[in-house]
Amino acid sequence: MITSRGAMILGTGHALPERILTNSDLEKIVDTSDQWIVERTGIRQRHVVTPGTPLSELVIRAAERALADAGVNAADIDLIVLGSVTGDMKFPATACLVQEAIGAKHAAAFDLSAACSGFLYSYQVASALLATGNFKHALVLGGDVLTSMVDWSDRDTCVLFGDGAGAAVLAPSDGKRGLIYGCMHSNGAHAKLLYNPGGGSLHPPTHESIDAKQHAIRMEGREVFRHAVTSMAEALQEVLQKSSLTLNEIDLLIPHQANLRIIEALGKRFAISSDKVFINVDRLGNTSAGSIPIALDEALKSGRIVPGSTVAMVTFGAGFTWAAAAIRF
Ligand code: ACO
Repeated sequence: MITSRGAMILGTGHALPERILTNSDLEKIVDTSDQWIVERTGIRQRHVVTPGTPLSELVIRAAERALADAGVNAADIDLIVLGSVTGDMKFPATACLVQEAIGAKHAAAFDLSAACSGFLYSYQVASALLATGNFKHALVLGGDVLTSMVDWSDRDTCVLFGDGAGAAVLAPSDGKRGLIYGCMHSNGAHAKLLYNPGGGSLHPPTHESIDAKQHAIRMEGREVFRHAVTSMAEALQEVLQKSSLTLNEIDLLIPHQANLRIIEALGKRFAISSDKVFINVDRLGNTSAGSIPIALDEALKSGRIVPGSTVAMVTFGAGFTWAAAAIRF
């Protein structure tokens, strides 16, 4: 009998912008085609904010839905961790804006920067803090508005991303439900294969930095792809080994939704049947730190996760960072 020691999930929620950008919409912006995007990425459409919409709008909606789902009052939340790289402002933390908006009067709040790994990193940090006994309920959030830093003339990147946010309310494990095992890794040697150079202390914003498009995402797609498959496979293997779970005991795999081909390559390495792999990248594109919690909420609400399910999640993002977790529901 596997025991869960880490935090358990009491409720989840997510929020997406209403506006949908299809591949044929993108055909009018850059030299691309629906066929190329579908064949190379599996993405057919993505939800995108109206320019100027801050991340907090999505995250607050996701948080309120997760609280309602969990039946927990905001006043009983004492910790808020938001995984994101597209906060409303450089500071304060967007988590503090969420704290105020939802009325979590007694909560500590901070943002965590791990790009697409933001939610699984935040979950594990919150789980460790809950284990101290100093916190009773945590609100763990993941979300990004990457379309705010996309260069819409760069076809290599602009077709990949969508906006969205997800949330989960956590409490210490009851021994049956919760985190069975989680891992987190990084390798900064590859920082410049996927990065956003401008606007920080290295290149403070200037007219020149804007003209050089330093505020936009830069990416070596092929290299990112290669590392993503290898690292996610290693992390998933680690979680299976350390939690003494076999692949047969995993009811659902939720991989980071970046590219259908990355997900398929991962599935092939583990010979996992496709009906056990959650996919929404076709509808949402890559929502970065929103990817895992949105998929998790969709899987719960559609009945693909039920009480007793064991779910594995695995992700990879800029940094590089990568992480995985096995959770019993
Ligand atoms: N439309 C049409 N053609 C395009 C487009 C486009 N949108 N983008 C690139 N091309 C062209 C290239 O210019 C190239 O043309 P060339 O052969 O004449 O030079 C050709 O298509 C092939 O380009 P590649 O980069 O080799 O294509 P690849 O099959 O590697 O697919 C992609 C590119 C989709 C970016 C892929 O490498 C990928 O998904 N990488 C992972 C990136 C990622 O997911 N990043 C997100 C953050 S990290 C994460 O979440 C895992």
